[in-house]
Amino acid sequence: CGICGVVGHRPATQIVFEALRRLEYRGYDSAGISTLSKNGEIERRRAAGKLDNLEEVLHQSPLNGTTGIGHTRWATHGAPTEANAHPHAAGQVAIVHNGIIENFAELKAELEAAGCVFASDTDSETVAHLVDFYLKQGKTPREAAFAAIQRFEGAYAIAMVFKGHGDLMIGARHGAPLAIGYGDGEMFLGSDSLALAPLASRITYMEDGDWCELTSDKVTIFDSTGQEVQRPIQNVAFMAGQVGKDGYRHYMEKELHEHPVAIGQTLQRITDPAAKTIALPELPFNPADVPRVTITACGSAFYAGMVGRYWLESLARMPVEIDVASEMRYREAPQPNKGVALLISQSGETADTLGVLRSLKKEGQSIVSVLNVEHSTMGRESDVVLGMVAGPEISVASTKAFTAQLSVLAALSIEFARARGTIDQAQEEKLTASLLDLPSKAAEVFTRVEDIQAMARVVAEARDVLYLGRGICTPIAYEGALKLKEISYIHAEAYAAGELKHGPISLIDRTVPVVAIAPSTILFEKTLSNLQEAKARGGRILAFTDAEGAKKLKGVAEVIVTLPDVDAFVAPILYAIPVQILAYEVALLKGTDVDQPRNLAKSVTVE
Ligand code: G6P
Repeated sequence: CGICGVVGHRPATQIVFEALRRLEYRGYDSAGISTLSKNGEIERRRAAGKLDNLEEVLHQSPLNGTTGIGHTRWATHGAPTEANAHPHAAGQVAIVHNGIIENFAELKAELEAAGCVFASDTDSETVAHLVDFYLKQGKTPREAAFAAIQRFEGAYAIAMVFKGHGDLMIGARHGAPLAIGYGDGEMFLGSDSLALAPLASRITYMEDGDWCELTSDKVTIFDSTGQEVQRPIQNVAFMAGQVGKDGYRHYMEKELHEHPVAIGQTLQRITDPAAKTIALPELPFNPADVPRVTITACGSAFYAGMVGRYWLESLARMPVEIDVASEMRYREAPQPNKGVALLISQSGETADTLGVLRSLKKEGQSIVSVLNVEHSTMGRESDVVLGMVAGPEISVASTKAFTAQLSVLAALSIEFARARGTIDQAQEEKLTASLLDLPSKAAEVFTRVEDIQAMARVVAEARDVLYLGRGICTPIAYEGALKLKEISYIHAEAYAAGELKHGPISLIDRTVPVVAIAPSTILFEKTLSNLQEAKARGGRILAFTDAEGAKKLKGVAEVIVTLPDVDAFVAPILYAIPVQILAYEVALLKGTDVDQPRNLAKSVTVE
């Protein structure tokens, strides 16, 4: 969910609404705003569905006031209805909440026993009732908020406004992000810097357990014990152009076209192009002494991690353990002395990945994170941040952040290999050169869009699709299948091509197309045999390959997209691009909501 708030001197509704637009990527199944009217009454407008619905409601029935809070929701407890939309109000307070109050059932029972009547199925409404309960006992807003916060278990970022207090907003965070923006005669709260950036160039990221009291000219921050604390103020540069669609139909289309720039800018930071060597920030350990790297991430970032495992193992002879964050978090896997935990995340806020970061830190692992948003919670809690330079990614389905993540992981693997003495200088130069060559090769992929569209027409007709890859391109098959599921709602599964005969081959007939990620590397012939097996059973083969592979796939594959020749080392980075374009083209044919597919959110800050 996304939350924002303002306490100031200008009409609050417009400010909050525009911030919600920038936060919509965090959830979009319902939204709402509360403001304080001139006479200090709390007013509220909410709507199920996307922000456009709320805009319509606000148009019909505007809200006044210079202090307000807003929320755009990704439902956890309770269906995405208007009644479950935030803000939630009780008596003298209205609140917006991101996260999950895990002990809400207990608190709700206690409050109901005390006579509170609940109007929604959400855990969040408990926040409003509990704060109001303490207000009714005669506590001030500050005392009531603090008393309530101390009773919450789980994760939360909360903003609250109070009846009769037109110049006051209270915020609190624990396990979910919340930042304070400093304006001129106005102060803001927001889930991230994207929400706050056009409003305030000076931002404080609150620490876990912090809470704050904002008036139009003063910010007071407290820690979890109620002590007043000082937190650093950061200057955040903002380029307005970065968050528009620039004439593209969707953010996803724009962001797909930004692959070459994202890869190029990322590499610029971590290579020395003249010397053709890797130049990462200094690591607080010697890779030669590291017994194991443990990679953890969610979604597309996890598939980037899978590619990273192949590189670290094969190039640097580095033992690697990898799992999705929601599993790693509770596996109780033993961690080696001097081990390195490698976390990968576009947002740096994903709750599961953050949970693993914290638990592996406790286990004494060095924390290295690969992040697009470097000043995110994960960024602040890591020993080393390896930044991608992909720019804001708005489309829910990740695109350019994926290839930027891979670029960083490739560089890290070369760095490890050098330190561990498993490659020589000539090899390092060759591998680095192949990376530096990628932006132009990535740009060339866009000259193949017509062929990808021909492939999309076959895929769009299907109910189920199989994606196959081998070796280091297997994770790209996973990424392709995930992207297709996410934005076109077509069921897709990915397999290591060699595994086809152990099960999924029974699915194959004319109606189940097989998409192969098949650059002509050493494993090509084996993939080709697997594709022959699929074809022999009536399967329709669609292949991403290169000129050499295309010759051999003639007569086997119905549609071939011939990609530029690249070194096998960087093939997974290049091949990710057409695979994502395919999902986009299919979604266009299906007419789905590309940037905001149903049920998803870009940044999942709950477990
Ligand atoms: C969500 C998004 C995915 C993303 C994943 C991990 O599921 O829809 O596109 O890959 O979260 O996000 P992160 O910000 O940690 O990379």
